[in-house]
Amino acid sequence: MTDPSITPRPRPAGALRRVGIAGLGHYVPERRLTNAELERAVDTSDEWIVQRTGIRERRIAAPGELASEMGARAALEALADAGIGAGAVDLLLCATVTGDYIFPATACEIAHRIGAPQAGGFDIGAACSGFVVGAQTAAQFIATGAYETVLVVGVEKLSAIVDYMDRGTCVIFGDGAGAAVFTTLERAGRGEYLGGSSGMRGGEADALSLPAGGTKSPATFDTVERREHFVRMQGRQIYRFAVTTFVDLVEKALAPYGDDELGLVVPHQVNLRIIESAAEQCGLPMDRVFVNIDRYGNTSAASVPLALYEARAAGRLVPGKLVCCVAFGAGLTWGHVLLRW
Ligand code: COA
Repeated sequence: MTDPSITPRPRPAGALRRVGIAGLGHYVPERRLTNAELERAVDTSDEWIVQRTGIRERRIAAPGELASEMGARAALEALADAGIGAGAVDLLLCATVTGDYIFPATACEIAHRIGAPQAGGFDIGAACSGFVVGAQTAAQFIATGAYETVLVVGVEKLSAIVDYMDRGTCVIFGDGAGAAVFTTLERAGRGEYLGGSSGMRGGEADALSLPAGGTKSPATFDTVERREHFVRMQGRQIYRFAVTTFVDLVEKALAPYGDDELGLVVPHQVNLRIIESAAEQCGLPMDRVFVNIDRYGNTSAASVPLALYEARAAGRLVPGKLVCCVAFGAGLTWGHVLLRW
């Protein structure tokens, strides 16, 4: 029996193919964690959280609800939106920092849940930039003719690694998932991928990381006692990096185009102050920037596809106009994807 996932696919001799997005999907857990509830858990206030971050509530996975389940729900919605079945997926990429396991890849678990045993796949570990890096990866495989259909899922269950005794981080993060189906532009008929970028700078794990549980510091009683299996973040350092990177990515991505060509910037929902400050520096009016952080907080790799999904649902992806997705996060990593909707 031939396994389709290992069938060699020769690169066509002709030019690269144009790539588009055929479908979008999302999933957020039902449970809302409000600022009022956090006020009762740590020394904070609704006013402080709203003023500094713009977040009013975030979604939290139910006990036992897995990242792969959330990712599978978003994936199935994206496939239905694209009008194709899971059997058509050639490659499944999952961007996450909170997968079900360190290994195996959460992509494998999602493929199993949605019924895509023929698909190849892997996880993308680029933190909050994971979805845009995944989108670029998908686009290369389709453009070269290696694959017809690539499903990219961004999912996070950050509630599993957030310390609800640390007011500096617990107010920021939430759970959720988003997904997009990439295929040839001819088949997708919309959402043309025009290009993207990705960058990274190492040696900055102190800025944002999960200190223990990796091979540098495997789990011990001491690491648990020191609460090192929870997110640690230097908020100020990340703040400065995020604003500068946002501005740089948007300016470079849109430089070749006229002002009137831009439809919407869909940024990683990092923090409302960061988004507003960067938009001001780029001279972007806020009605050209999509924001849903007030309802979901920062959902890392899920944030861009979730925002893209909601932007389309709100009628804010205008046919023929540019959509610029930008993201940045732990690593440090960053990247963008430019689409014409
Ligand atoms: N409620 C009330 N006070 C808080 C608080 C909270 N939830 N979190 C921190 N504080 C306090 C600090 O302890 C500090 O008190 P001190 O002056 O007595 O020491 C004070 O508020 C200021 O702290 P600081 O960290 O300097 O605040 P900030 O203005 O930088 O805002 C963040 C903090 C986290 C909101 C901000 O730095 C930020 O958004 N950074 C980016 C984070 C991010 O987006 N991470 C994800 C990247 S993908």
